Amino acid sequence: MKHSLKDLNSFGVESYSSNLYYINSIEDFSNLDSHIREKETIILGGGTNILLKSKIIEKPIFKIQIQGIEIYNETENEVYVSVGAGVNWDQFVWWCLDNNFGGIENLVSIPGNVGSAPIQNIGAYGREVKDVVVSCEGVFIKNLQKKTFTNSDCNFTYRSSIFKNKLKNLFAITKVNFVLTKNNHLIFSDYGSVKSALNNSNIINPSINDIANVIKEIRESKLPDYKVIGNAGSFFKNPIINKERFEKLKFDYKDIPYFNINKKEVKIPAAWLIETCGFKKIKYKNVSVHNNQSLVIVNLGKATGIDIYKFSQKIKESVVKKFDILLEEEVNII
Ligand code: EPU
Repeated sequence: MKHSLKDLNSFGVESYSSNLYYINSIEDFSNLDSHIREKETIILGGGTNILLKSKIIEKPIFKIQIQGIEIYNETENEVYVSVGAGVNWDQFVWWCLDNNFGGIENLVSIPGNVGSAPIQNIGAYGREVKDVVVSCEGVFIKNLQKKTFTNSDCNFTYRSSIFKNKLKNLFAITKVNFVLTKNNHLIFSDYGSVKSALNNSNIINPSINDIANVIKEIRESKLPDYKVIGNAGSFFKNPIINKERFEKLKFDYKDIPYFNINKKEVKIPAAWLIETCGFKKIKYKNVSVHNNQSLVIVNLGKATGIDIYKFSQKIKESVVKKFDILLEEEVNII
């Protein structure tokens, strides 16, 4: 049977699969014929970080829906929570806040599922999920071997991990284990926009709930809701360049924003590069960048996956031409 994937991708593009399998428990993989598991496959989480370029997807797709949130250990100050990969990330964030568990409040309102969070090491407002992941459990699809990856096994880096590289579409994360604080929460409020939002609301000693609430507001004001306007969040990663190259760029572009990564490297907001290439004024078919955040490509209506892909390539070409910087996709292109 041919399944439409339109509701399974946040860009809302039309694409079809005849090989879509819903996974509700780790055992569901064992019930699949080996000839299905042994092919090249696609593991689908919330579908909020993918672009379906092809109209027809031939590879088997495993849509992970494993549920459950369970406390499995506790100390005086910390709590250990095991979460099914198919749990909606933001629901988990609010479950933590309802229980006064700290650690992921800066990652509020990020679309997608818990199982995808470690794959791209989601991050926002000064925090990354790697800061709270204890381990990731799952299964190698081809041989059904189960494995638990400790935090250091996951090779977390900026917007990446072993699951996005070596193990891409080979290992399915079924559960993620987290460590959170029960009291003496660490508050991360240094990110520019978070700091000023707290100041504006006269909040001096923010609680984890205050942090979540201001970040939710910031995100809502800046980022489009994919349920209203199709998008997959940041389309590209922020490029990291060495200091010498940065100094040369700064000579030509005095107002270039940047973040120092270490003594040798600087991160430049891709949003600024894209905006400076004039993309806030460019529309291609039914595709453009978002008005408040040029790093987010949006589907203005009935855009196809290929339209969005072509537009993204135009952005890359312009940025290379103007700045000699090659942007790297953050979104997975299928
Ligand atoms: N900027 C522009 N034009 C714009 C928007 C931003 O020039 O239209 C410049 C401004 O100078 C701004 C800077 O870019 O100060 C940074 O913008 P922002 O704070 O929005 O953050 P970002 O670097 O563009 C990253 C993440 C976001 C995350 C925010 C907040 C990546 C690829 N993206 O965006 O994550 O929400 O920081 O922490 O690292 C996502 O990954 O899908 C995502 C939305």
